[in-house]
Amino acid sequence: MASLTIRKLDEHVKTYLRLRSAKNRRSVEEEVRVILRELIGGREEPLTPFSAPPAASAAPTLQRTSALPEASVTLIIGGGIAAYKSLDLIRRLKERRIEVRCVLTKAAQQFVTPLAASALSHERVYTDLFDPQSEFDAGHIRLARDCDLIVVAPATADLMAKMANGHADDLASAILLATNRKVLLAPAMNPLMWNNAATRRNVTQLQRDGVVLIGPNSGEMAEAGEAGIGRMSEAIEIATAAERLLRPPVPKPLAGKRVLITAGPTHEPIDPVRYIANRSSGKQGFAIAAAAQAAGAEVILVSGPVDLDDPQGVTVKHVESARQMLEQVQASLPADIAIFAAAVADWRVASEGEQKLKKTSAGMPPLQLVENPDILATISKLTDQRPPLVIGFAAETEHLIDNAKSKLARKGCDWIVANDVSPATGVMGGDRNTVHLISKNAEKNGEITVDSWPVMTKEQVAVELVAHIAESVTGKSGSPHLEH
Ligand code: C5P
Repeated sequence: MASLTIRKLDEHVKTYLRLRSAKNRRSVEEEVRVILRELIGGREEPLTPFSAPPAASAAPTLQRTSALPEASVTLIIGGGIAAYKSLDLIRRLKERRIEVRCVLTKAAQQFVTPLAASALSHERVYTDLFDPQSEFDAGHIRLARDCDLIVVAPATADLMAKMANGHADDLASAILLATNRKVLLAPAMNPLMWNNAATRRNVTQLQRDGVVLIGPNSGEMAEAGEAGIGRMSEAIEIATAAERLLRPPVPKPLAGKRVLITAGPTHEPIDPVRYIANRSSGKQGFAIAAAAQAAGAEVILVSGPVDLDDPQGVTVKHVESARQMLEQVQASLPADIAIFAAAVADWRVASEGEQKLKKTSAGMPPLQLVENPDILATISKLTDQRPPLVIGFAAETEHLIDNAKSKLARKGCDWIVANDVSPATGVMGGDRNTVHLISKNAEKNGEITVDSWPVMTKEQVAVELVAHIAESVTGKSGSPHLEH
């Protein structure tokens, strides 16, 4: 089977994969696997191995169905009295939307039946290394790799010894030797066996090999009158440990940081029914708010009139005009990071008509315009409450980089996100954006650097910007961000 080196993929494919994997909280490799599964799951024709003999079509394959769960586990049930708890473990894993395929050792079948495991997992159960039905397509290799995690429960002293020494003389040990997935062991044995020097050596070796152990707990043994360390962890504990390995907690690099964001247009009233406005959907600012919130920040979003739902977990202050926006921004300080993505109207009419202006034969009513406060410049130039990182946007239709650089200096902010909004780009109101991050490098005598990103969706731009912010304010990246 061919292998795929993600590093060698086209730049835009890599970017897509990084952003999608960051969003879904998976590794890039795992994301590729999910995409491939989705592709296969969506096929109408079943994929039959090219060289499979005709009879093989009746053989059980490990093909997945289109209703794909989020994660899958190969559960190896070893031979010990604790095996009965593994039946509950199947249920606990399935409750967490984890697909389970069971392998029962010969000894395990003395305690639980393949039928019970199959009924609970809704999958065929595997017991034999030399089962021609599953081995026609190297079933033990597929059980070892066509899953996200291998759980061994109960992990008996014998299974652990075999694993520590690389044996492969039955299906369970062959899977454990052939896998490149993480392995979680839930040991269960008599306390004397657990404390035996041989088991101690094997545990140390397995931990050195990267195997994760849960338990054993201490308590009563099945053997009358015996107690000590050796009881298998409860099903719920094992399922929680498995889930933590499958879905590691998302890093929250902006935890404890307060982020203030402006978004959308402002409406500057002319009279009770008319207003001056900019063409802005607010999508980019809202996406940044959502990405900052996902990175653990406390987010305050001051938004002009938009047709978007408030992002979850974000405090949204809705305003109409530039002056109201400035007021709410000032009221929201202090902040660690301020991002000004709003398309604020530069002018407003000097005196708003109390009644609707009427068309008259005298011609157009004169509209006296006055300049609006510049919110970005006002906040950038604060001496007491200036946020340590202030970011502005520059939407330009010509001389993008030069205009953005002079805006950086004029407004006094630290970074400018510059984008070309000339009508041909479709950026205004659209879903995609091509941006350049222009920053002043404090460590290099204020030297200005320009970082040009490939075309992305506004959500991707947001994730990428938040990753840069996280790196800048904490030294930690919020998601795997782009290498240029
Ligand atoms: O001057 P210009 O409107 O091109 O500057 C764009 C940047 O300044 C954006 O970050 C925008 O949110 C901010 N801005 C502001 N208040 C204004 C005008 C622009 O905060 N009155």
